[in-house]
Amino acid sequence: MKTNEILTVNNIRKSFGSNLVLNDISLTVSKGEALAVIGPSGSGKSTLLRCINQFETIDSGEILVDGEPMVTTNSDNAPVYADKAALRKIRLKIGLVFQNFNLFPHYSVLRNLTEAPVSVLNIPKGDAEAIAYGLLDKMGLSEKAEAFPYQLSGGQQQRVSIARAMALSPEILFFDEPTSALDPELTGEVLKIIRSLADEKMTMVIVTHEMAFARDVADSVIFMDSGVVVERGSPEEVFGSAREERTRQFLERYTRG
Ligand SMILES: Nc1ncnc2c1ncn2[C@@H]1O[C@H](COP(=O)(O)OP(=O)(O)OP(=O)(O)O)[C@@H](O)[C@H]1O
Ligand SMILES: [Mg+2]
Repeated sequence: MKTNEILTVNNIRKSFGSNLVLNDISLTVSKGEALAVIGPSGSGKSTLLRCINQFETIDSGEILVDGEPMVTTNSDNAPVYADKAALRKIRLKIGLVFQNFNLFPHYSVLRNLTEAPVSVLNIPKGDAEAIAYGLLDKMGLSEKAEAFPYQLSGGQQQRVSIARAMALSPEILFFDEPTSALDPELTGEVLKIIRSLADEKMTMVIVTHEMAFARDVADSVIFMDSGVVVERGSPEEVFGSAREERTRQFLERYTRG
């Protein structure tokens, strides 16, 4: 294994009943890389993220995070998950930003950012607050520490949820369509933050329908369709001269709207 590989996914399969949603998916993410995942609705993008983030179990295959096996497959082709302590350790290396923000509605912005660091990582409250204020400053939300989520715009809420994920200092950050619940004018402010994280070489996997953004920010792009990785390449390759007909058709349909 290459030492700079933070995420390794080998041949994972996942079905819901008779619906084979992930059909032999393999991919790697290196430290500092921004990987964009594009593909039609229902192609399995969210399921892939949910499997890596331990919200779903896989049927077979392997997932390694930072070289540590999260799940492997035995000789009967059944998944074998790491023990609870190892899974917890792995979970702490991963952050996930959802489409619909998922902030704690009854906590202030500040508490949303400090809750997990204090209760999960046992970071002293004062230290966690100092980190939180630093992140809010970076997100352009210094004024909003005492506000509650319902008092914020969607774009602000999404920036809080990015800050909340960052507060746990993840090794890798996943985004599942972070702007698709936002009006176009609020989308830009969130994309700007993600772009600044990419500039700082934060390792990220970004599922997105924002093709111009993916082209601009990603180091590489994966096109998924029907539970398979159809192709992977640089943004120039995938958007400019895709190898696979399916990719070209998707992008053509996309740009036509
Ligand atoms: N919990 C579940 N139970 C049953 N089927 C599911 C579940 N979650 C997802 N699916 C099915 O798995 C397939 C892939 O869904 P998924 O949400 O991963 O697609 P997606 O690529 O994220 O699509 P979108 O772009 O619309 O978000 C779909 O057919 C969906 O209906
Ligand atoms: Mg999805």
